[in-house]
Amino acid sequence: MGNLVCIGAQWGDEGKGRIVDRLSEQADVVVRFHGGNNAGHTVVVDGVTTVLHLVPSGVLHKSKLCVIGPGCVVDPEVLLQELEMLAARGLVDLTSPERMIVSDQAHVILPFHKRVDKAREVARGAGKIGTTGRGIGPAYEDKAARRGLRMHDLIEPDRVADAVRSGVMYANSVLEALDGEVYKGEEIESIIARLRQQGQKLKPLVDDAGARIHAAAQAGKRVLFEGAQGALLDLDHGTYPFVTSSNCLAAHASVGAGVGPNLLGRVLAVLKAYSTRVGEGPFPTEMTDARGEDLRQRGREFGATTGRPRRTGWLDLPALEYAVRINGVTDLAITKLDVLAGYGELKVCTAYELDGRRLPHFPHDVRKLQAVTPVYESFEGFDKVPDRIASLDDLPAAARRYLNFVVQRLGVRLSIVGVGPGRGQELVMHDVLAG
Ligand code: IMP
Repeated sequence: MGNLVCIGAQWGDEGKGRIVDRLSEQADVVVRFHGGNNAGHTVVVDGVTTVLHLVPSGVLHKSKLCVIGPGCVVDPEVLLQELEMLAARGLVDLTSPERMIVSDQAHVILPFHKRVDKAREVARGAGKIGTTGRGIGPAYEDKAARRGLRMHDLIEPDRVADAVRSGVMYANSVLEALDGEVYKGEEIESIIARLRQQGQKLKPLVDDAGARIHAAAQAGKRVLFEGAQGALLDLDHGTYPFVTSSNCLAAHASVGAGVGPNLLGRVLAVLKAYSTRVGEGPFPTEMTDARGEDLRQRGREFGATTGRPRRTGWLDLPALEYAVRINGVTDLAITKLDVLAGYGELKVCTAYELDGRRLPHFPHDVRKLQAVTPVYESFEGFDKVPDRIASLDDLPAAARRYLNFVVQRLGVRLSIVGVGPGRGQELVMHDVLAG
């Protein structure tokens, strides 16, 4: 079939953007299927860094169809900024749905979603989630409450006002309860006017995403489904409540793209050679000492969306085994191996203990996860990895041992290894889409 779902196996920021950019060479259609501009997918080509928040990471390849799927939430202001930046580079055309489409079913992030998101975080105090403040949670809440505005509504000027007014009513009741700033007449009118303009600018791109993807697949084209965030941030299966508000798992690519599950194909999990997390929530292998800071600096671990410093830690096999299991992973892409070069002795968490007993599985209860003691195995470090590698044999023996150990434990094949941020600084060992 030749299709592939690419997902993050940790807490996001695994380097999915650069992997999707590389694999897009072999795909015809690239689809974002959930989340919104809480994501920041970074692609570096010839020294030029592009950070994409909503547009699929296949967009730097001119001939691909890029799709923002029905499972996404779209902030029209951010999408337009991103599209205008890409249009200025000749990569998209805002007047034609040939190369870039936005699902008519995707929900719209409205200005009050962002205000509610931030007010909630303030109200939570020490118990905050550490959201990106982009209005993701409140937009998905309105979707589930069946009062959301979808893209097909946004492009109809006479539908915008009613939806905004009723949305503001709910938002104001929350803001009032949280001591936030409520919306009043003039501000509401200017939101409506702005949304109407944005809707008209986006109108040429709004289309039936599922039908377009299905037709492409029927015509023998290859589809790459691009996940955002990561398995451990999944609304149902992540470290709830310290999760995002969408489903990040491979199975959701079907619902979030509007196609049947038989179209999904293989599942590639992207993981960093160590762990990071941004925002609050349990992180058993976190290093809060100088080594953690050193890793943050070496790996330039600062959020691509918010600039927040990421928490850093050792690789966590119980968490990764869980991610591999619940995603049905067939292939692994291990990124940022170069960051560990020269870092000295390495550790990998091989199990969790709780009250002196080994846990058989990754616990769903965050209180348990917060209380576990990681069991570590130590590995000899390695000094240097080459900028580019043609085979695993080009890696130092200690780096190969580290990789082998991880791959053996996860029990699926290693298909990609990243040794630097730039396009081409990854070894692709299999035609991942073909299988
Ligand atoms: P939200 O998605 O903005 O609601 O944030 C919920 C949690 O998910 C927070 O811990 C965020 O830091 C985290 N998060 C959301 N998007 C990303 C991402 O793209 N990378 C890493 N963490 C993310």
